[in-house]
Amino acid sequence: MTAVDSLDDVAVRPDVPERWRLGRYFVPKSRYVDPEFLQLEIERVFPRTWMPACRLEEIPGVGDFVEFIIAGESIVVVRAEAGTVRAFFNSCRHRGTRLARGRGRVGNLRCPFHAWQYGLDGVNQYVHDEGDFPDLTPEYLCLRQCKVGEWAGWVFVNLDGNAEPLEEYLYPLPERLALFNIEDMRYTWHKTVTLPCNWKTALEAFSESYHVPGTHPQLIRPLEHSVRPASRRELLDDPSWAPSQALGRHVARYLIEARDPANPRYADKKSLVAISEYHVKELRALHTKKEASAAEELSRSLLPEGPVLFAELKKIVREKALAEGLDWPEFDPAVLGQATGNYTIFPNMIFLVRQGSLLGYRSCPHPTDPDSCVFDAYALELFAPGKAPEFKPETYTEWREGDVGQILTQDFMNVEDVTVGLHSSAFKGTTLNPIQEKPIFHRQLVLDEYIFGPAPGES
Ligand code: FES
Ligand SMILES: [Fe+2]
Repeated sequence: MTAVDSLDDVAVRPDVPERWRLGRYFVPKSRYVDPEFLQLEIERVFPRTWMPACRLEEIPGVGDFVEFIIAGESIVVVRAEAGTVRAFFNSCRHRGTRLARGRGRVGNLRCPFHAWQYGLDGVNQYVHDEGDFPDLTPEYLCLRQCKVGEWAGWVFVNLDGNAEPLEEYLYPLPERLALFNIEDMRYTWHKTVTLPCNWKTALEAFSESYHVPGTHPQLIRPLEHSVRPASRRELLDDPSWAPSQALGRHVARYLIEARDPANPRYADKKSLVAISEYHVKELRALHTKKEASAAEELSRSLLPEGPVLFAELKKIVREKALAEGLDWPEFDPAVLGQATGNYTIFPNMIFLVRQGSLLGYRSCPHPTDPDSCVFDAYALELFAPGKAPEFKPETYTEWREGDVGQILTQDFMNVEDVTVGLHSSAFKGTTLNPIQEKPIFHRQLVLDEYIFGPAPGES
């Protein structure tokens, strides 16, 4: 697979049917609304890509399982032995019944229909009235397995038995992100909602900062929490500009703090306190309580206002982390800045990560409706041993019932409106910001490689 590194070099692909053909930063709407395009994605993308199924902390004990449903394909991910996770197509070898539903712990996989049973290794252990069946072989009776890989605490699955190893697929992210010890982070919350939009639209709401002053005006005026629309003056002053870089199939996007570690815009004590407190209350991710209390402490110090406060805040956070018993190395700011940011892992995973915390998303398409997806949002944090909260996943078919906080509420409202507007007969396709919305275009380019093959002239 060819990695697309620069969007400027992207040639229009005459081999792609015209109604789905990408232009320069132009994405025809048919790639979102056509059921035929969704079917191509389901046939050619999801069966061949590595996707996050769960985290290891969700299946701590032997027999713990999580069902992962991707576009109608149900996979059961199970801890088969203390150090072994397996993933099976969740379908009984008799008449196809789903063997495991949702989450739970089992001794073996027992079909609810006629009670055939399978070990956690997928080997059939019992066929009721086996003597009635003349032709069954042990090979035939075994559950069909998916490939499983683990990285940073996530369990990834690939439905393709010949898939390249996960480590290769993710390259170069594992090395780049190793400093964060994401594998030691634990859930603070996890919400699954059904969203009335294309699976890509949901992810795209979290792929750029270009929407911040438009959607989240309260974030560009940290001292007020008002959500009144940003004025022209505020828009011109928008501090949320964030560039990104393609890394093979994936994308890294740098947040303000990475681009400009001493961004003087909010370099005053009141803003630092307000920003942390707001995020703790309404996003419940990335900014932690530790940081909010550090900002509060800082606000009572005699330090002058100015960029020096950022370094001091980091220092206090570190002291608090060490006092809690956390591993909290002091990184070179340039190294930390390079790694801190927003990552898109093709096809359907996004996360923002900084030292000690992470906010993650996953989007899974509906099997037939291009305007519907199942979307997960979750927060992870580093905790001292034994201090992580209990994992309590929540699921909502109506996302408004899910109490997702002010920021995610604003984003989810956008995706509903995008869906309605995409269907306008006057709308032909999206015109993307070539710099700030690059992750969105990049996913489309990689989709083309999976669906239509490498671009002509590439191998
Ligand atoms: S479908 Fe599973 S035992 Fe019959
Ligand atoms: Fe947003």
